[in-house]
Amino acid sequence: MVDQKSFHVPVLVAEVLEALAPRAGGVYVDATVGGGGHAAAILEASAPDGRVIGFDWDEEALAVARTRLASFGARVELVANNFADLEQTMMALGMTAVDGVLFDLGVSSHQLREAARGFSWQQVGPLDMRMCRTLGVTARDILRTASLEELAQIFRRYGEEPRARAVARAVVAARERGEPLETTMDLARLCGPRRGRIHPATRVFQALRIAVNRELENLQRGLVGAWRLLKPGGRLVVISFHSLEDRIVKQFLKERAGTGEARLLTRKPRMATRAEVQANPRARSAKLRAAEKL
Ligand SMILES: C[S@@+](CC[C@H](N)C(=O)[O-])C[C@H]1O[C@@H](n2cnc3c(N)ncnc32)[C@H](O)[C@@H]1O
Repeated sequence: MVDQKSFHVPVLVAEVLEALAPRAGGVYVDATVGGGGHAAAILEASAPDGRVIGFDWDEEALAVARTRLASFGARVELVANNFADLEQTMMALGMTAVDGVLFDLGVSSHQLREAARGFSWQQVGPLDMRMCRTLGVTARDILRTASLEELAQIFRRYGEEPRARAVARAVVAARERGEPLETTMDLARLCGPRRGRIHPATRVFQALRIAVNRELENLQRGLVGAWRLLKPGGRLVVISFHSLEDRIVKQFLKERAGTGEARLLTRKPRMATRAEVQANPRARSAKLRAAEKL
């Protein structure tokens, strides 16, 4: 049984509540319910009858959220699905207008810690990296089948890795020599030594994770669906953890504000306080952006 408390510590909880402004009677979507930390805070703030529809495509996360949120009874509904299909799924549930949507992007601490998921280059695990076990393609599949060009593009575009081509070449050379590309260590070895502050394996692993889970495409679709679902006066709140995501969110909100559809609630992204980063280092790169639908 997974321990609920250590599963994942939610970031920027006070800032989420301030931006989302949950209230009694409201209906909120937590598009990335994870361990249910943010959802619990929203349910508490919208007592006695606010509701949360929680999405996650990781069944393991949903099981933890289900236990954690059980005391809120019928005020919570959990859905195992990709948030890219948020709008259609909500429609199918008979919900066409909501008061707020939260996205807390990326992987949970639990997913990162689980060596068997293959997200971390610092632990031995299979080169999997699927957040959702029903996704068809693993990191291993990409490493074994993508061309040199495709690999270089993934590492450059999604990892912003300066030595993208060199790492791609190392992968292809290893493949040609018949070396195994099965575990996180097999790949970490090919990424080269640390040169600057960030180890190249960090960027290469991020890049593959984004490609395997199609994170940027899902985010784009999720934002569009969430925006359509919002009532006038409803709020969209997004926490991102790397510049590629943040760029998409910033652009999306800027466009809506430009057409007079949105009022930005954050001119600059909100970041964690020093105290929060000290208590939860994962909060260091978190950026929260929010807007109200007009
Ligand atoms: C950072 S965690 C969220 C943690 C959560 N806010 C909490 O308080 O515990 C991100 C979660 O989003 C889920 N996720 C990421 N991309 C998704 C997608 N496209 N559709 C559904 N869930 C997704 C992951 O499986 C993970 O559980």
